[in-house]
Amino acid sequence: MKKILVATVKPFASEAIRQMKNMAKDKGYQLELLEKYNSVDELKDAVANADALIVRSDKIGKEIMEVAPHLKIIARAGAGYDNIDLQAATDKKIVVMNTPGQNSNAVAELVFGMLVYMARNKFNGTAGTELKGKKLGIHAYGNVGKNVARVAKGFKMDVYAHDPFVSSEIVERDGIKDIEERDDLYKTCQYVSLHIPANPHTIKSINYDLLKQMPENAVLINTARKEVIDEDGLLQLMEERPDFKYISDIAPDKKDIFEQKFGERVFFTPKKMGAQTAEANINAGVAAVKQIIDFFDKGITTFKVNK
Ligand code: 3PG
Repeated sequence: MKKILVATVKPFASEAIRQMKNMAKDKGYQLELLEKYNSVDELKDAVANADALIVRSDKIGKEIMEVAPHLKIIARAGAGYDNIDLQAATDKKIVVMNTPGQNSNAVAELVFGMLVYMARNKFNGTAGTELKGKKLGIHAYGNVGKNVARVAKGFKMDVYAHDPFVSSEIVERDGIKDIEERDDLYKTCQYVSLHIPANPHTIKSINYDLLKQMPENAVLINTARKEVIDEDGLLQLMEERPDFKYISDIAPDKKDIFEQKFGERVFFTPKKMGAQTAEANINAGVAAVKQIIDFFDKGITTFKVNK
């Protein structure tokens, strides 16, 4: 019987695990759990006899693949796969897949939870502002960006998007204004929501020169990856611009400096919370199990992300 190991430092909701186990059992697979592990060695021990691996943001490098001789597939239950060494996987003939779209509504809802929290001054009793009528720029119009656009329209925000990989027809069909040049999105919008992946092209790309163009009372919200921010540039800008706020789903590396200097103007979740809902866990977890079974039983590789 093939073994699927679910290795998650940040565990799935129990209902997600129940459904994942049932699906695996029905199809003749065994699902094992390694949750909240504290060391790479624990992961190495558990993966040694696994045929498939399901992870979330867990880092999977060459050293893990090297001790897993039976491993044929890694399913990242989620969207971003910057935590997996794709080249090492390709070298070892391991297929890597993600489960795109499965947790995007959860991330989009968190965007608005945090935006309202900051617009209402962290619920401290003072008069805040409303989102209605404000300009929101969506940087990257993928699954999460589209959901953010949908919710923003409910708030009656004025919504713009920039994505060089998505045609203006697709953006405009959703009733969103397409902005061709990235800088123009930042020049136009008081609120900018980031949905770009972390890769060599995007890391530290959200920098001082870009952000300084944002209008008065700018709010940058990041539910993508902390690595895309040039933290020194953002610190400098926030020093110069007392009107600038930064919200992030996962603290920056320089969290203490941001909090000491700018207190009320920043908010960071202690752990990445965007996809941390029962629904998103069920969607992404069950999709990961299904994709693994389809891969072994039918050779389907639809969501493969490595070469
Ligand atoms: C993703 O890339 O799918 C999200 O960032 C969620 O990541 P998580 O599974 O670590 O919560």
